[in-house]
Amino acid sequence: MVQKVSIAPQGPNLSELVQGYWRVGDWGMNPHQRLDFLKQHVDLGVTTVDHADIYGNYECERLFGEALALDKSIRQQIEIVTKCNIMLCGDKTPERKVNHYNSSKQHIVASVENSLRNLQVENIDVLLLHRADALMDADEVADAFADLKSSGKVSHFGVSNFTPRGFELLQSRLDAPLVTNQVEINPLNFDVTEDGTLDLMQTLRTRPMAWSCLGGGSIFSGTNEQAVRVREELEALKEELGASSIDQVIYAWVRKLPSKPLAIIGSGKIERVESAVKSLELTMTNEQWYRVWIASKGHGVP
Ligand SMILES: NC(=O)c1ccc[n+]([C@@H]2O[C@H](COP(=O)([O-])OP(=O)(O)OC[C@H]3O[C@@H](n4cnc5c(N)ncnc54)[C@H](OP(=O)(O)O)[C@@H]3O)[C@@H](O)[C@H]2O)c1
Repeated sequence: MVQKVSIAPQGPNLSELVQGYWRVGDWGMNPHQRLDFLKQHVDLGVTTVDHADIYGNYECERLFGEALALDKSIRQQIEIVTKCNIMLCGDKTPERKVNHYNSSKQHIVASVENSLRNLQVENIDVLLLHRADALMDADEVADAFADLKSSGKVSHFGVSNFTPRGFELLQSRLDAPLVTNQVEINPLNFDVTEDGTLDLMQTLRTRPMAWSCLGGGSIFSGTNEQAVRVREELEALKEELGASSIDQVIYAWVRKLPSKPLAIIGSGKIERVESAVKSLELTMTNEQWYRVWIASKGHGVP
């Protein structure tokens, strides 16, 4: 059973593993099957769900809300994370010529109201700014967050894909701590371990959330040299650790980071969620962690 953990000073309690809903539109489920899947992962203790306004060309929140509406009692058992500030262009937004970002107060508030309607809930537990935005005016974001907090529409705020300096900039304008930075962490991408992002999270005792821990599936299917080397090392570690699959090894590898990231599960298959939950029993030595690092980089440590 997955435990709930406090993710930041004054932050919310979220489940240590989070279910991502980016791909829900691809899962081929009807609303009742979506509700069953939700109940099944909640029963495993995976109570936090990750969304964004734009997922599935602005459809995923609505698909989730449709399922939730079939049993409103589930709302009390889950924590909802969603995001805003990416402006996608497509059939739903023909007035836009290019994808871009918008962190204005007007857009943030309108996006939250839209998410609440789509999710069919009264409140969002954690709202994240989805991407670092060169045009973000931190004072204006703070103003938007204050309004959303006082109206009860959002309980906590964080960011995603922010640089450490961007995180500190926004934090400098806020009364309450940002509760997370949701970033890509997997054995094919070491950016956040090297650019200070995770150091800042550890400094602030704030737990990051980790997206695409399995490289969006490329850990299993990638054919370039790096992916093949990493997969071979993960297979060897699977045997040593007594894990049943390499995804379990990866989740243990992500959790070994001292900033204690909350891994977001991307699969819509409950047996893969169960496998992720079982991975919480695995522990890895420092040397085993660095074997994945070496396989990924293609050379030893300096
Ligand atoms: N903040 C951001 O910018 C950002 C960006 C991307 C994602 N996210 C969040 O992070 C969540 C997870 O990201 P992700 O979906 O990329 O996660 P992921 O776990 O890296 O990838 C999930 C994909 O891997 C496949 N997969 C899982 N286990 C597998 C296995 N054993 N063999 C073969 N394929 C396997 C899944 O297919 P099946 O469904 O068939 O299992 C799914 O297509 C998203 O849902 C979203 O909430 C956030």
